[in-house]
Amino acid sequence: MAETEPQSPPPTIRREDYRPPAFLVDQVDLHLALHPTATRVKAKLALRRNPAAAPAADLELDGEALTLLAARLDGAPLGADRLAHLPGGGLRVADVPAAFTLETEVGISPEANSELSGLYLSGGNYFTQCEAEGFRRITYFPDRPDVMARYTTTLEADRAACPVLLSNGNPDGAGELPDGRHWARWVDPHPKPSYLFAVVAGDLVAMRDRFTTRSGRKVALGIYVRKGDEDACGHAMDSLKRSMAWDEDTYGLEYDLDVFNIAAVSDFNMGAMENKGLNVFNTKYILARPETATDADYEGIETVVAHEYFHNWTGNRVTCRDWFQLSLKEGLTVFRDQHFSADQGSAAVKRIGDVRRLRAAQFPEDAGPMAHPVRPDSYVEINNFYTATVYQKGAEVVRMMRRLIGEANFRKGMDLYIARHDNQAVTIEDFVRAMQDASGTDLSRFARWYAQAGTPALRVRDAFDKASGRYTLTLAQSTPPTPGQPEKQPVPIPVAMGLIGPDGAELPGAGLLLLEEAEQGFTFEGLPAKPVPSLLRGYSAPVKLSGLSLEQLGFLAAHDTDPFVRWDSAQQYATAEMLRLVEEVRSQKPLALPEGLAAIFGAALDRAMEDPAFAAEALVLPSEDFVADQMAVADPEAIHAMRQFLRGALGTRFSPRLAALHGALEETGPYRIDGASIGRRALRNASLAYLARAEGAAGAEGLARAEQQFEAGRNMTDVLAALRVLADSDSPARQAALDAFHGKWRHDDLVLDKWFAIQASAARPDALEAVRALARHPDFDLRNPNRARSLIGAFAAGNPARFHDASGDGYRFLAEMVIALDAVNTQVAARLVSPLGLWKRQDAARGALMRAGLERILARPGLSKGTYEKVSKSLA
Ligand code: PHE
Ligand code: ZN
Repeated sequence: MAETEPQSPPPTIRREDYRPPAFLVDQVDLHLALHPTATRVKAKLALRRNPAAAPAADLELDGEALTLLAARLDGAPLGADRLAHLPGGGLRVADVPAAFTLETEVGISPEANSELSGLYLSGGNYFTQCEAEGFRRITYFPDRPDVMARYTTTLEADRAACPVLLSNGNPDGAGELPDGRHWARWVDPHPKPSYLFAVVAGDLVAMRDRFTTRSGRKVALGIYVRKGDEDACGHAMDSLKRSMAWDEDTYGLEYDLDVFNIAAVSDFNMGAMENKGLNVFNTKYILARPETATDADYEGIETVVAHEYFHNWTGNRVTCRDWFQLSLKEGLTVFRDQHFSADQGSAAVKRIGDVRRLRAAQFPEDAGPMAHPVRPDSYVEINNFYTATVYQKGAEVVRMMRRLIGEANFRKGMDLYIARHDNQAVTIEDFVRAMQDASGTDLSRFARWYAQAGTPALRVRDAFDKASGRYTLTLAQSTPPTPGQPEKQPVPIPVAMGLIGPDGAELPGAGLLLLEEAEQGFTFEGLPAKPVPSLLRGYSAPVKLSGLSLEQLGFLAAHDTDPFVRWDSAQQYATAEMLRLVEEVRSQKPLALPEGLAAIFGAALDRAMEDPAFAAEALVLPSEDFVADQMAVADPEAIHAMRQFLRGALGTRFSPRLAALHGALEETGPYRIDGASIGRRALRNASLAYLARAEGAAGAEGLARAEQQFEAGRNMTDVLAALRVLADSDSPARQAALDAFHGKWRHDDLVLDKWFAIQASAARPDALEAVRALARHPDFDLRNPNRARSLIGAFAAGNPARFHDASGDGYRFLAEMVIALDAVNTQVAARLVSPLGLWKRQDAARGALMRAGLERILARPGLSKGTYEKVSKSLA
């Protein structure tokens, strides 16, 4: 349902305006009688004045889209004289005592809830989503994370329609009711903020398992899905058990209830939600079978299951004081899930993937109109701040802190943080203070990373004095201005480094440099010859490094002992050459494959079988968007032409070896999801993609192999890789393959999403026409966030060449879709605006067309405040 429109601009919420809540809630007793259009929610709240807050005579509760049916204070009905409805839907109760019980009864309509916030229906089943501000759509409440209460929840529903009734905590009784209804009660012994409340009810089946914590608590595990999907939960369950054991081993943190349930839902705004004892997941991050899920899907499931489980301590037991502190739980928990996944397989390959995602999503955000610090200072709509900056950059900041104080001190700091703040709602300062106190390291300057937006640029210069053997590295930093922050201060940048001698051997001197000032020199004595510096090993800081020559980059790509720097140097080398080639495209010069790049590519192929997963990463050229980010004014057409040329030229040059790899890596045994198997498939499919772009007979052979691989249908990873190759080509087999795929998978939502996304991101000239036709396809559904993202998001964020078509049609399409979606689901609509916001990076003509798209959205009467915030900030 659409939010009511902001006629005057909606208010800005500021961090500095934080005040403690006037009232605290000790106990919440909820009773939900579930009905599709007329659910009744009775709430009994034990409230008292907060001694730490300014005194208030009246109680103000948040509420949204609620119909008040009754209200009592200490058992006595409240009349209209004591009750006032607040703008936006809240409720004021006048003149309340110091401590009292408030009972309310409200009506809500789950069926009318297309926003997917609060209580809603999906496929006939009930789900809730309360983070950040959804609980107020279920009952009147001080809906803010610093109000932590104990909850008892009783659910009542039709037994046939809803055999399963779940909520937070432990089960505490169930029974029959007249008229075919039944009830179940849940008690959560742990105090929690309202955003962690959850209810799931419906006709679901469970995959069950058990876990015994190291102190001997027996935990019943359940993953609830729709009938027929119970066989697709094994990987999620296995990931859950490994996460539970890992948190015990790594942080000494045990699970704290008798049950841990997960429910999967196909209509969900985000990836998943860490509700206490009852996680709710987008089906995308639970369901996996080899025939339907790709390796990337399997990896996503492992990561997200771990992430939500880890929130039990970092987020739930210790929570956020206010939403400005969101990275307190999200940055820390992303860091923890990254560390967990790295421990499950190849840490280097995991790190490369994480850095790739940071550069693809967070760097543009940090350079665009929505740039904000990891701890923002203000927002209009908090849902707009569940960002790559809060999550991914927040995780990088935690990682840097750990590197600075050391692993052992970091663990001590975590212990101290939890010991000090268990069952509290705290701030990022509290976290940093725990790390500082545990390590004895002054982190006050380091905390600038939380306050300052923008990606620091790190420039290196070096000099060698042959006579004395002295080598000097000069590091300089600067952070570009961002909206509201014109001046930047230097931040402490940990630079993990080493020195490589001319023969490729590691020299003494490796360690951690800390760049604290705008510029600092570091000297190394007694070197026999000028070394090549290996900097930011393991990507020790989220900065943009420059200053190394092509020669130095090529050398590091070949010789560095640090796999991250080896990979990244090759990427930086390729980027430099790609930028040069873009200029040649623009001046209409004939293009030639740069020999240095070919040599790096060839060397990666030579060593490919030593570490296929790493090789697969090394073979992928920097993306079109990444190249565009390095240009003062992007040129999407030229970048696309250049990258396609390079892919073809590399495919042509190396076709015999690519074909050999594709053949040698063919699988014969059963599908396995270990890192080694995933790596082999990734390398095989990377080889296929190049081969299919080769000229002449080699290219034809590549396409023929893609057809065979598609038809063999061994697993979704291989099928999709082959389909992507075909979808990007002019092969006569293209349409038949797309049709066959649709015919086979039209009844599997998650697979059908892939079918939409592959066509939306295909770089063919007719992509936008195809996308417009797909938006009218009977299987397209704007109300399902996964489907909307798989068409609109995949096009606007994943197909730069066609989105930025000089006609402006791509921009117009996105604007139309955002407008349509804003009337259905404002959160998903606001998220899709982002690609239009990056207009400053394009040429004047495109920039004007992008702004016209934004203005068109802004002119729409009744726009939600979330979409309004994104669009208006993008135009500023
Ligand atoms: N807190 C969730 C997570 O990161 C994300 C989320 C936010 C889900 C808001 C739903 C709504 O794990
Ligand atoms: Zn999270």
